[in-house]
Amino acid sequence: MPQTATPHGFVTKTLHWVSAALLGFGYVKGLDSVTQLADPALFRFEIGFALSLGAVFLLRLLWTKAVAGASRLPEAAPGWEHAASRVVHGGLYASVFLIVLSGLGIALAYATPILGGLFLGAMLGLHELALAALPLFLLVHVAGALWHKLIRRDGVLESMTGALPV
Ligand code: HEM
Repeated sequence: MPQTATPHGFVTKTLHWVSAALLGFGYVKGLDSVTQLADPALFRFEIGFALSLGAVFLLRLLWTKAVAGASRLPEAAPGWEHAASRVVHGGLYASVFLIVLSGLGIALAYATPILGGLFLGAMLGLHELALAALPLFLLVHVAGALWHKLIRRDGVLESMTGALPV
């Protein structure tokens, strides 16, 4: 059984770091209030950004599941690490998809007043929930990467970054 992680491929690494950059951009440029959607250019930009983010994560999910493999955690790692990895990666994907879908729901509710305030309120609530959950999953994800780098020293962090100086 392999004890050291084999590297992720170029496509997986590229999709991983492009999606991380897109999320960082989304958090910095995110809207503060639904009233900002009154600006048609911003409205269009937000829809385009949400669709792009969703497409990159969907592509990434399909690529890792169907082609390249999702995790490089060594088979011999303890069961709790395999379970934690599945829960956290699943949580990351679920939070991002919920952010995207509820964001599109907000845009739909804003453009279609007949849907009513209840629908808009529900979409805003889901959006806030997912936006709060994602950083928690990311915190655990990065802590996990550091755990593998500093404690396990099994190459899992390097499987996504390439060789590191230390
Ligand atoms: C900001 C956004 C980030 C997101 C959304 C994210 C998400 C993910 C997801 C879903 C996976 C599972 C494999 C896949 O589907 O590609 C993954 C793998 C990985 N990520 Fe991240 N990640 C982020 C940032 C980071 C950072 C900052 C680090 C390092 C400190 C990191 C290190 C890793 C490593 C080492 C793996 C491979 C784990 C394995 O093979 O089991 N990620 N990431």
